[in-house]
This record gives sequence, structure tokens and C-alpha cells, in this order.
Amino acid sequence: MSELSVNHLLGIKYLKKEDIKLIFKTADHFKEVINRPIKKVPSLRDITIANLFFENSTRTRLSFELAEKRLSADVINFSAASSSVKKGETLIDTVNNILSMKVDMVVMRHPNPGAGIFLSKHVKASIINAGDGAHEHPTQALLDSYSIKERLGGVKGKKVVIVGDILHSRVALSNIFALKLQGAEVKVCGPKTLIPKHIESLGVKVETDLRKALEWCDVANMLRVQNERMEISYFPSTREYTQQFGLNKKMLDSLNKEIVIMHPGPINRGVEITSDVADSENAIILDQVQNGVAVRMAVIYLLASKIKQ
Ligand code: CP
Repeated sequence: MSELSVNHLLGIKYLKKEDIKLIFKTADHFKEVINRPIKKVPSLRDITIANLFFENSTRTRLSFELAEKRLSADVINFSAASSSVKKGETLIDTVNNILSMKVDMVVMRHPNPGAGIFLSKHVKASIINAGDGAHEHPTQALLDSYSIKERLGGVKGKKVVIVGDILHSRVALSNIFALKLQGAEVKVCGPKTLIPKHIESLGVKVETDLRKALEWCDVANMLRVQNERMEISYFPSTREYTQQFGLNKKMLDSLNKEIVIMHPGPINRGVEITSDVADSENAIILDQVQNGVAVRMAVIYLLASKIKQ
């Protein structure tokens, strides 16, 4: 397979196993490029990309912008907080105005699930979903799997537990799709109130005892509790959440094996993970961030190749 089966990256749900293999092979090449003294290639000199962020972001926004610049694309950045969206402009009008300035590709983060899918049906540009509400965050799941592969030599057959606020997490859903597609075994672990009903229908198992989950897994992906998406309380107190689902060094050291610790960021140190775990040898959290640039370069490069045809 030499090209992606899709024209947009809207979610992992729409990808085939071969798409992920192609993205990882291309990311390997770009990882080598960004470790050179000159970290830039001229591949996308003829492509203009708009980064539209309707929701806060540090890692994803900077990582996409860096990936685009490393590929020599022209880049424009849009933040909803300082735009005419505040004056009542619709999403389609905003994007069509930007596209009339000859933009080829849109990277969009939006609080509403399905915003990227909606946009892809109404505008003529390749759309990359940089996180849509509690729905999907496909490039995060790709960089997570890429980082597991780098650390453990592969994803197939690995046991991965995703811990925390599964209900509100786009990272959890995209990871479940990506990991299952590559043949990993997946469990989710967290308070019952933060585990969606019928999640087993996605081929994952539920474990509400963190110790049992950690004893089972090769990799633990620790998620943040997404307070900004909660209108009610899902557990009695943060202290109680941390006591039951927070990972600390004592628990990590008491396991009878080494496990890999991941976190998509931003971390709430002392809540879902203590600092000594986040900064330990087991953690690949900064590798995930570093790999994000190469993986996003690969996604942008492969989608741009389809625009150029
Ligand atoms: N992992 C992630 O999406 O982080 P940001 O919200 O900072 O982009």
C-alpha cells in the first residue's frame, strides 16, 4: 500500500490496518529527518495549511505547526478566542473564508463531537481532526501506538490498560480503535460512573481494580479526569479518585514486572499520576510528544500526496 485509503483523517474508525502501517513507515523516515542538524524537508512547499483551534491545546497545536513547518508548508493559525466566531460567524463561513485564501488542508480542534466530519462534507479541503469533543483524537492514538511499538517492538499481542475518565475521553476511544486494529488486547479501568455502558461491544474488557489492571498489562495509559466536560460529579472527591485510580511509585514498584507508563497530557500531577511515576524510567510521556511531530508529519505528507494527484 503506497497511499492512504482516506482523503481526510477524521477518526481512527475510518482507517484500515494498512493505513496505520503506512503512516508508521512514513513516520520512521520523518523521525530520522527531525534528528538531522537541518530538520526540514521541502516536500510541501506548494501546500498551505490552516490550524483552526476552537478549544485549548498546547501539545497538539504546537506539534502540528512544527510538523507543517518541518515539511516546508505555508501555515496559518486561527484561535477561536480572538476571531470573528465571537461575533456570531458560523463554522462553515469561517472555514470557507479561510479556504478562499487558497488553503489546501485544515487541522481542526473543536469542542463538538463530529465537527470535522461535518466540515469534510461542506468544504473543499483535506480535514485532519485534532480532537473533536469526547469523540476522537486520531493523531494522539497514532502517536501512542507508534510509541508503544518503539518501546516494546510492536503493538500486536500487547496488553494495554487505559485508566481514568473513559467516558469523556476522545483519547480513549481513538486508542481503543487503533490498538484493536493492530491486534492488541485492551482493558479500561476507572470508576464505574466514568466507564461508558456497552464499552465491551468495542472488544475491550472492564476492570475496576487498578492493581489487578496493572498486574495484567504491559502498558498503562493514564488519562486525566476531564472536569471541563462534566456537568455533575462522577466521584465523591478528587482525593478519593486518587486513592483508587491514581498511580504512585509504591504501587508501580510493588508490581512483579516492569510496565510502560503513558499519558497523553496535560498531566495533573498528584491526581492520576504522581510526579515520581511521570518522571520515572517506565514513563514514555515525553517520547510520545516527540513522536507526535514525526507521526503528524507522516499524516500531513500522505494526505497532501492525495491532494496533489
Ligand atoms: N494530548 C493533547 O491533546 O494535549 P493538548 O490538549 O495540549 O493538545
